[in-house]
Amino acid sequence: MTTAAARRDIAHLFHPYTNLARHQETGPLVIVRGEGVRVFDEAGRDYIEGMAGLWCAALGFSEPRLAQAAARQLETLGFYHLFGSKSHLPAIELAEALAALAPEAAGKAPLSRVLFANSGSEANDTAIKLIRYYNNAIGRPAKKKIISRRRAYHGVTVATASLTGLPVNHREFDLPMAGVLHTDCPHHYREARPGESEQAFSARLADNLEALILAEGPETVAAFFAEPVMGAGGVVVPPAGYFEAILAVLRRHDVLLVADEVICGFGRTGNLWGSQTYGLAPDILTCAKALSAGSAPISATLVSETIWQACVGQSATIGSFGHGFTYSGHPLSAAIALEALKIYRERDIVACVRRVAPRFQEGLRRFADHPLVGEVRGVGLVAGVELVADKATKEPFPPARTMGAQVAALAQKHGLIIRAMGDTLAFSPPLIIGEGEIDEMLIRFGRALDEAAGA
Ligand SMILES: Cc1ncc(COP(=O)(O)O)c(C=O)c1O
Repeated sequence: MTTAAARRDIAHLFHPYTNLARHQETGPLVIVRGEGVRVFDEAGRDYIEGMAGLWCAALGFSEPRLAQAAARQLETLGFYHLFGSKSHLPAIELAEALAALAPEAAGKAPLSRVLFANSGSEANDTAIKLIRYYNNAIGRPAKKKIISRRRAYHGVTVATASLTGLPVNHREFDLPMAGVLHTDCPHHYREARPGESEQAFSARLADNLEALILAEGPETVAAFFAEPVMGAGGVVVPPAGYFEAILAVLRRHDVLLVADEVICGFGRTGNLWGSQTYGLAPDILTCAKALSAGSAPISATLVSETIWQACVGQSATIGSFGHGFTYSGHPLSAAIALEALKIYRERDIVACVRRVAPRFQEGLRRFADHPLVGEVRGVGLVAGVELVADKATKEPFPPARTMGAQVAALAQKHGLIIRAMGDTLAFSPPLIIGEGEIDEMLIRFGRALDEAAGA
């Protein structure tokens, strides 16, 4: 923490998800440029970015076509908005593109309407507001409660931090707010009973969800939010039969399904949408991050024609649809997103993920034998490696030991950026990563693990 930039950082910057007190001592890692899947610090050291930044830089850190699209748009129209019936071509084209890409909604109206915002949190917050608007429109004013899952991550606004099922997002913020309920996290390794199969575990969790809905009164429960693969809660891949069982419960009680595709969207799980990987037919879908390959803030909430029609009626009665952000569908962000979608299509990004995913998943699974590793889990190009104190009993390390953070710090020392979620190390590399880069990433991770184990 000796560079001039580091000293300026600690003088003024308020860092998200950082121990602010410790940061004053340790200072930041200042990244100055990117090249493909790598980023470089001030001293010119390279790091393989094993997290695509924050699960978002799908095309890496230096895609020239995104820069060109940005420049073209700024030269043409630097700002316009969508309020009061104004419009612009980047937003129109991006809405069209997303509606065309939306996952099939078997037996449901297609997700044909798109409302833009700037972040995943705003997209999910918007979904909550639309659910309220919709249920009021169709004469169900009591049906407002939202269920999410423990260890879910849906954002940090007052409403979405409430949905997020992580203590650090609630403590001292006086959250969760009223009307938000949490049900089980579907993590078989941690939550299953001894000898319980994945199917039996899934059935038990669906029973618990149904019991919760019945206890609250189905007429009061509006929606269930789910990430197809839970990300920030520690990369939790749904166990066999899980979504099938959950969806049956939701259908029985007329509870809407919101698929939070902020991480899973645009190829991460080996299909364009996590909803396709796990057979979800959401009523609302939210996406962000890889929508613009992480190169501009933009998110989208996709809703069905049914929900749209209710909004149309409400806005006619009230005189206006009273929601939207200054930068909803910002032309710069929309232009970059359109170019990202074009690149995904031209390079067949889903096929790229499928081609390299076995090397990534099998490579990480080889660490399952490592003395520090309890479980390796993942799908496509997202994975989690959970560290344990005792492999046989799955006993975790005491939280004060901060084992996950230590391994992440060692990985950084060895030129790999990954993220510790408690004692789970998350991997979510750029979708353009090649097999050689995966091998190098695994070598660097192995060095960090071995050093942590004192080998
Ligand atoms: C699944 C999921 N939903 C929502 C969010 C919130 O997105 P943002 O940080 O853009 O508000 C995130 C962020 O990591 C996420 O992973």
